[in-house]
Amino acid sequence: MSSERLDRIRLHGDVPGHVAVIMDGNGRWAAERGLPRHLGHREGMKAVRETIAGAVEAGIQILTLFAFSTENWQRPRQEVSALIRLLELYARREREELVRQGVEVHVLGELDRVDDVTRRAVDSIVAETRGGTALRLNLMISYGGREELIRSARILAERVQRGELRAEDIDEEALEDTLFTRQLPAPDLLIRTSGEYRISNFMLWQLAYTELHITPVYWPDFDREHLFEAILDYQRRDRRFGRVESR
Ligand code: FPP
Repeated sequence: MSSERLDRIRLHGDVPGHVAVIMDGNGRWAAERGLPRHLGHREGMKAVRETIAGAVEAGIQILTLFAFSTENWQRPRQEVSALIRLLELYARREREELVRQGVEVHVLGELDRVDDVTRRAVDSIVAETRGGTALRLNLMISYGGREELIRSARILAERVQRGELRAEDIDEEALEDTLFTRQLPAPDLLIRTSGEYRISNFMLWQLAYTELHITPVYWPDFDREHLFEAILDYQRRDRRFGRVESR
């Protein structure tokens, strides 16, 4: 599909290597249509498909989607199970298409909290998409930024206790090596849908110098053109990383 926005992105050339997304607004999308919340999440799956296709077209290398937060476990039991079932359905249904697109799926988060059936579906999508070179897709499931940092503190403390690491040698690199996202560059761009100006406990360490793009669009309505718009917005930014002059 040819897109005027995509042409402009290519002309500029500086495509963000890593894009992270807080997919918000499924519940409101459903409420506005008098539908139950879980149908909003189901519709959100289409937006996931669109975003992945757009990311591949634009040449993004890493796409990280916040699919289920540690806080989401506190939603009503019915909604939690609908969301988890949807993840399992996604893993089963999309496998083939993701392989065809060359998408390598990784699932990051506290996965010991999800049931065995979902775990197996998730494990198989990871195994079957291994080696895809067009895009790395990180699905953040049962993920929370603070919990990730607490986990890192524990891992580092244990290394110190075992005598493998000296406390004075703990630096950014040592900490980054304990994150779920270890060995990945930080996101260049964070997109949040539904117009909320919040980070909501997402990638607290990694987002330190990430450019933010907030759109009022509810997640189920988000499509590749919205992604391209976010990239064009990113291309207008002057990234200084706390310094004076731009790169
Ligand atoms: C936020 O909307 C969205 C979520 C809690 C779940 C995101 C999940 C999906 C888009 C489902 C498909 C994803 C994959 C990867 C299979 P909300 O419920 O907080 O909306 P609201 O703020 O309007 O209530």
